[in-house]
Amino acid sequence: MPPAELSTPRGQHAPVEPCTLVIFGASGDLARRKLMPAVYNLQVDGVLPSNLAVIGTGRKPMQPAEFRSRMREGIAKYSRRPLDPSTWSAFEPRLYYHRGAITESATYTELKSTLDTIEAELGLPGNRIFYLAVPPDAFAPIAQGLQQAGLTHPPVPPRPFCRIIVEKPIGHNLDSARRINTALGQVFDESQIFRIDHYLGKETVQNLMVLRFANSIFEPVWNNKYIDHVQITVSETEGVGTRAAYYDEIGALRDMVQNHMLQLLCLVAMEPPPSLDPNVVRDARIDVLRGLRPIAGDDVRKMTVRAQYGAGNIHGKDLPSYRREPGVKPDSTTETYVALKLLVENWRWAGVPFYLRTGKAMPVRASEIAVQFKEIPQILFNAPPHAPQAPNVLAIRIQPEEGFALRVISKVPGTKAHTRPVEMNFDYDDAFTTGTPEAYERLLLDVMEGDASLFMRRDAVEASWAWITQILDGWKRDRSERLPEYPAGTWGPAEADRLIQADGRSWRPL
Ligand code: BG6
Repeated sequence: MPPAELSTPRGQHAPVEPCTLVIFGASGDLARRKLMPAVYNLQVDGVLPSNLAVIGTGRKPMQPAEFRSRMREGIAKYSRRPLDPSTWSAFEPRLYYHRGAITESATYTELKSTLDTIEAELGLPGNRIFYLAVPPDAFAPIAQGLQQAGLTHPPVPPRPFCRIIVEKPIGHNLDSARRINTALGQVFDESQIFRIDHYLGKETVQNLMVLRFANSIFEPVWNNKYIDHVQITVSETEGVGTRAAYYDEIGALRDMVQNHMLQLLCLVAMEPPPSLDPNVVRDARIDVLRGLRPIAGDDVRKMTVRAQYGAGNIHGKDLPSYRREPGVKPDSTTETYVALKLLVENWRWAGVPFYLRTGKAMPVRASEIAVQFKEIPQILFNAPPHAPQAPNVLAIRIQPEEGFALRVISKVPGTKAHTRPVEMNFDYDDAFTTGTPEAYERLLLDVMEGDASLFMRRDAVEASWAWITQILDGWKRDRSERLPEYPAGTWGPAEADRLIQADGRSWRPL
C-alpha cells in the first residue's frame, strides 16, 4: 500500500509539485550529513510536497532497510532538530535505494524502471530532480547515462519537470569548468541546471540583500564616497581532517575563494537589481565578477598571499603540520590559507579595496563581512592627533552567532568630553524565535519550486574561474618560492599582515 500523504501546514511557500528526488552518491557523507537532514527538516516544517519519493543510488549493494537505517542515523546525528518518531515513520517509507555503478549503462535503464514503478505506486506525476553528490568527473557520465536511458527531456510544459543539481567543485580551472558545463549543457537546458554554492543558502547571506535593499539608511552610503574598505573573512578551526585526498589537489583558493567568498563579494558589491526575478538577480551578481580587476603577472605576488599551516595547538588540541596530515603529500605545496586584495572597477567601488582571507587551522571559526567607513575629518572630536577616533564599521556575522553590529562613537557618561566606540548589535537568536534553517533546506526547496536565484549560472561560474585561473597561473610560475607557514591556531602568516598594512590598514581582530 502506498504511504500516507506527508503532513503539511504550508506556511507562506507556494505549493510544491509532487516529485521524486534521486540522489547519486547516496552512500556518501553529504547525503547522510546534509541532504537527508535537510529533507527531514523540510518535512517537519510541512513545506515538502504532499507526495514525494527519495531514491538514493550508489555502488554499494544495500537493502532498502539498511539505507533507511543509515539515513535515520544521519538525521538523528546531524539534523538541527531531534528526530521525531512519528514524523520519521511518515517519511521512512518514501525512501528507496537503487544500486548501480555510474559507468554502467544498465544502472540508468534499471533506474528508469525503478522510477516508473515507484512513481506509479505512489501516484507521482514524474517530476524528477537528480542530485549529483559525487565528484565532478562523474557529472558528464551521469548526465549522458540519464539521457541515453530516456530519463531527461527539455523543459517544455506541461511535461513534468526534470532538473539536475550539481555540487562544487565545478572544475579546477577555467578550461575544466567549461568542459563540465558543456557536458551538462548537451543534456540539460541551463534552466534545468542548479549549481549549488551552499553559502548562498545561508540565512545571513540571504539577509545581505535585505539589509542593503530593504533599508533606506545603507544604500546612500554604500559606495566609494563613504566606504574606506571591506574585509571578508572565513576562518575555520579544523585542519584538513579526513579530506586530504580532495583538498590536497584543490587548496584554499579553489575550495573557498572561487565560489563562496566571491559570491559573498558579489552580494556586498552588486547594484540593486530591478526585480527579484532569478535571472535579474544573477545578472546583478555577475556584473561584480565582470568588474574585477584581473590579478595577473607581477600583481599576483603583490596582491595575494598563500600559506600552509604548520604544527600547532588549537584550543588545547594539537594539530600536526599540514604536510604530516594523513593523505597529504609530504612535499605538498597546497595552500591552506589565502589572503588577497581585490578591486571592483566600476563607479561605485573605484578605489575601494576588498581584502579577503580564509584559512584552515585558525584560532576561531568565523565568517564575517566588515564594511569600514571613512574616517571623519580631523576636527571637533577627531581633532587630537594622538587619539584618532575609530571609524564606523558595519560587521555582518555570517556564522556563528549570526547577526550584525554597527560600531559608532559615543560619549562616555560623565563631566568630561570623553568618547568611546560602542556597538549597536543585532543578534538573530534574540530577534527571532524560529530556528535558522540549514542552507541545504532552503536550496533543496528552491529546486523543487524551480527558483534558481541562489544557484550559480554557467556564466558566473566561468567568470569567477577566469579571474581565479590567472592567480593560479601566477602561483604556478612562482613555484620555486617558499610557501609561508603559519602555526596552526594562529591568524595566518606575517606576509598577510604586510599585505594589508602596506595600505595603512590592518585585519580586524575576530
Ligand atoms: C566547503 C569546503 O565548500 O565549505 C570546506 O569544501 C569548508 O573545505 C566548507 O570547510 C565550509 O562551509 P561552512 O558552511 O562550514 O562554513
